[in-house]
Amino acid sequence: MDKLIIRGGNRLSGTIPISGAKNAALTLIPCALLTEEAVTLRNLPRLADIDGFQHLMTQFGVSHTIPGKRPEDFGSNVTLSATRITSSVAPYDLVRKMRASILVLGPLLARTGEATVSLPGGCAIGNRPIDLHLKALEAFGAHIEMAAGYVKATAPDGGLPGGEFDFPVVSVGATENAVMAAVLCKGTSILRNAAREPEIVDLCNLLSAMGAEIEGVGTSELTIHGVDRLHGATYRVMPDRIEAGSYACAAAITGGEVRLEGADGHDMGSTLHALRNIGVEVESDKKGVSVAANGPLKAHNLTTAPFPGLATDMQAQLMSLLTQAEGASVLKETIFENRFMHVPELARMGADIETEGRTAIVRGPTQLTGAEVMATDLRASMSLVIAGLAAQGETTVRRLYHLDRGYERLEEKLQLVGADIERLGDD
Ligand code: UD1
Repeated sequence: MDKLIIRGGNRLSGTIPISGAKNAALTLIPCALLTEEAVTLRNLPRLADIDGFQHLMTQFGVSHTIPGKRPEDFGSNVTLSATRITSSVAPYDLVRKMRASILVLGPLLARTGEATVSLPGGCAIGNRPIDLHLKALEAFGAHIEMAAGYVKATAPDGGLPGGEFDFPVVSVGATENAVMAAVLCKGTSILRNAAREPEIVDLCNLLSAMGAEIEGVGTSELTIHGVDRLHGATYRVMPDRIEAGSYACAAAITGGEVRLEGADGHDMGSTLHALRNIGVEVESDKKGVSVAANGPLKAHNLTTAPFPGLATDMQAQLMSLLTQAEGASVLKETIFENRFMHVPELARMGADIETEGRTAIVRGPTQLTGAEVMATDLRASMSLVIAGLAAQGETTVRRLYHLDRGYERLEEKLQLVGADIERLGDD
């Protein structure tokens, strides 16, 4: 297993290219199941999770070719063709490695009339049920059965009729599954209290390019008029707002000045707002976002919430940054239980953080010192890298497979702006 060695203290300066969004890609790829024609996705990030999802798609008979792009480029283009679906079973071995696999349930069911998907199982950031995914599909007329760790969904003869569903809790994944099923339903479906994350807008935009009829895109009420068939499309994946936000925190914690090339400031609203309140200068234009931390950082209270609120996926990285801010900041995590697993590791690096339930109080500024650390999820791992960039001495981050799930060539991008960071094989 590889590890990252970071020697902290370098001020980051320069330009970082922002990759295509992982979480958008994970819902755009299964859209290929909805048509027999080819769907080409451009600007896919090269990540372990994306490779895993493409591998899962081959299980259903989806072929993929990789046009253009050299290995040394960031990102890749992929053409997915589901001319014929040869299986509608997503087995445990593939699903357990990647929770997002549940996103094949809606499109497989809509296209073939049945889908059998292994339950995703445990997850490091708390209990993550899929009850809302299933309830939304039931509201569209699906029959759901659970047996031997699998969920089997079947449509009545002639296909899913469609229906209405009010989400009791905003869920990104359940909204995505429901939208992907609704586009091929016989009638009109309405989703209320739907998630409004930019990745859902990206999903609706691809589906519309494939011939779907969706009203209310970007709002919490989606009206979807089912169509008989969808056609192929070529689509560019949106920029990764969480990757961009993470590098903004990395630049800010070093007192640096970085251009996030290709980032979309509009999608990053709450993160950029938080950064400004912490004392970071932020400028955003059509081609990217620039951040500069020239003065002292100030404490600021933050609460995660569904979009347009502050993304839970930014909480850990902002917490690292707040260890260097003057005063006490209160961070509330409202989306997931158990999402403070980075706190003990940050404390080992000298951070002053107290937690109670889903609230953390960060007191700063504290001098961080390098240490051997490891984290149990993707964003928590990134918070340790960010802390390492500001720490005195050497930080070793282990369990890099978490970072490789979500950050395309992380060490290379950080080296571009002057970080002293390298990847070594484990000893
Ligand atoms: C997605 C993102 C993840 C992000 C999260 C919240 C992907 C691949 N992952 O995850 O990075 O942190 O959104 O922005 O896009 N819930 C239920 N029942 C369900 C589904 C969800 O109770 O059937 C609850 C969850 O436990 C959680 C909340 O709803 O408390 C939000 O979860 P959800 O938005 O579904 O997250 P994911 O789609 O899994």
